[in-house]
Amino acid sequence: MPNQKQKIIIANWKMNPASFIEAENLLKTIKSGIKKSDNLKIVICPPAVYLPKMKPNSNFDLGIQNIFWEDKGAYTGEISAPIAKKLGANYAIIGHSERRIYLNETDEMVNKKIKAALKNNLKPILCIGETLEEKNQDKTSEIISSQLKSALKNISKFQVPSSKFYVAYEPIWAIGTGETPTSNEVMSAALLIRKIIAGLYDRQTADNLSILYGGSVTGKNALDFLDNAGMNGLLVGGASLNGSEFARIVNLI
Ligand code: PGA
Repeated sequence: MPNQKQKIIIANWKMNPASFIEAENLLKTIKSGIKKSDNLKIVICPPAVYLPKMKPNSNFDLGIQNIFWEDKGAYTGEISAPIAKKLGANYAIIGHSERRIYLNETDEMVNKKIKAALKNNLKPILCIGETLEEKNQDKTSEIISSQLKSALKNISKFQVPSSKFYVAYEPIWAIGTGETPTSNEVMSAALLIRKIIAGLYDRQTADNLSILYGGSVTGKNALDFLDNAGMNGLLVGGASLNGSEFARIVNLI
């Protein structure tokens, strides 16, 4: 069953910290704070320019916060999946709501980015979730469904085995706000995600999928999402910038 498998905790540092020295210190605090657990994978997603200096070890792996969908060419300012791989990333956050909001990233772009990641052996962490307005209009299921289906358009089940593809349910209203959904709401979202995956592919693919929760995760509420909502992992933003708080979350597993 999905709950039994290895948990994954992802740190999304976003556009922080301001210098590599600070990033190094943050990493040191995290490394010294975490106890080893075989049942756990930690993935740090720093600003891309810090990736080559981050030196992953058996305790943690590296991810990039975004990629472009073409492998190379005249795309000023973008980073391709092959470049991300060479920088040291093994995971790629794709479709984060901040990119959808501030950079007008569409479902179609998200789909192209997922394909580029899979083609280049980067494990996508697909972010989906509704706005507060959509939640208040009871549109959560509709949004989850349409974002997930669009993101996986023309992608076969063989391309998204459980070890290579992750879905993060991140309600936009919970990101960086201190507000969180109840464990029941998160569990319903995860059930819906599995149902959609079962419809697109099959039951086994749905059961094996790792689903993460993200949005104002802290050391205080992390267990609620992991144990009570049965999530397979967490995507941690703000709290991952505090090394001891992030270690506290990790050590709950
Ligand atoms: P937050 O961010 O933990 O600061 O809410 C989560 C995310 O954006 O992935």
